[in-house]
Amino acid sequence: MTLWGGRFSEGPDAAAWAFTTDDSDRRLLGDDVAGSVGHVSMLAEAGLLSAEEAAQLLSGLETIGDEWSSGEFVFVDGDEDVHSAVERRLGELVGDVAGKLHTGRSRNDQVCVDLRLYLRRAAAERSGQLAGLVAALAGAARRAGDVIIPSYTHLQQAQAIPLAHHLLAYAWMLKRDIDRFEGAAARVDVSPLGAGAAAGSSLPLDPAATARHLGFVSVFANSLDAVSSRDFVAEYAFCCAQAMTHLSRLGEDLVLWATEEFGFADYGDAFTTGSSALPQKRNPDVAELARGKAAGVIGDVATLLTLQKGLPLAYNRDLQEDKRAVFHADDVLAGALTAVTGMVESLTASAGAVSPWVTALDLAEALTGRGVPFREAHHLVGTLVKRLTADDRTFADVTEDDLAGVDPRFEPSDVEVAASPAASVARRTVAGGASWDSVEQQLRDLET
Ligand code: ARG
Repeated sequence: MTLWGGRFSEGPDAAAWAFTTDDSDRRLLGDDVAGSVGHVSMLAEAGLLSAEEAAQLLSGLETIGDEWSSGEFVFVDGDEDVHSAVERRLGELVGDVAGKLHTGRSRNDQVCVDLRLYLRRAAAERSGQLAGLVAALAGAARRAGDVIIPSYTHLQQAQAIPLAHHLLAYAWMLKRDIDRFEGAAARVDVSPLGAGAAAGSSLPLDPAATARHLGFVSVFANSLDAVSSRDFVAEYAFCCAQAMTHLSRLGEDLVLWATEEFGFADYGDAFTTGSSALPQKRNPDVAELARGKAAGVIGDVATLLTLQKGLPLAYNRDLQEDKRAVFHADDVLAGALTAVTGMVESLTASAGAVSPWVTALDLAEALTGRGVPFREAHHLVGTLVKRLTADDRTFADVTEDDLAGVDPRFEPSDVEVAASPAASVARRTVAGGASWDSVEQQLRDLET
């Protein structure tokens, strides 16, 4: 039984029906019921329903809500979408008065209210999960203690850093993801009910009252915008895609760190998997799939933008496709956050091989501190590297004579500067830089 049919003389073709219906909106059922409760309350206050009619509708809606939460709600083949299913079931429960539920409403504003309620809650959940991963990264950073690794540019060793500093870089990225979800949630928090099919209603509806009942911060200003805009959906998916991209990038580092070549980290057995062929293997599949699944979520953003770009105002059925994309993006992120958080919680850090050359900038800065222009200091240290390399030697065994042979402004203490990556970390005092003090400060700031 569809919600329409008066002007039709035959039912839908089976293939056309299968093509146009999509059960991916079923998860909106709880929000659809909540939206209807807000709508009925407004209709009663506006005098469009008697107190008795409203009570009957609300009690039927409550039963449907209970059936949904207990997993007992049954969809039937004729349910065109989640809205039709609720209205059909309401009719079964309360009889003809169910026909008054849709007063002053269209599925066009109804589906938007459902999705906005859903995404408002999802944004809070994802923010909470992101905060959990930030805490896991901070915990791993604390456990990493004094482990030093190289930082990289162009995947060439650059400067020595605490491994904790590298982990905390991701914590800051994820903090911004939380901010982004909060910003997106603010734009989701607008009630579209009252916009109707396209242009509002001649009935004395009170959209502000509906918004109040549903806890929305604001109300639509333009009915066409209310029913046809999906920027709030695309923005939500972008938040998911950016967060997934951060997880992907973290995943890439976690994969590299677990290799024998890097050897900076190991993860618990529960977060690695074995090889069917190679008995010695422990593969970092969680991190690989965080990287791999980011691809589909980036695709969801493209889907949602493309869906909107050529649509005439106002509602078009194309928009039904928004839910599959945004639910996919949100589901993938939710799953990835849980798994990656567990993996990071299981991380044990170990010092990896740090190239002796990572102190080159420190040596140049020692000269710069004595008044040598940086460009000249850079050249002098480069000359030293070239000479040592030609002799198959490194900074680890540089001597005072080697230094003096390049430039008299080098001092004997520069031997130690060149030879100790650990001392390089201790010397690096710039705020936010990769020093032990900075790591401590970041951990304090992240906790507030
Ligand atoms: N299933 C539809 C969607 O998700 C609900 C709105 C349908 N509106 C309509 N006029 N057929 O967009």
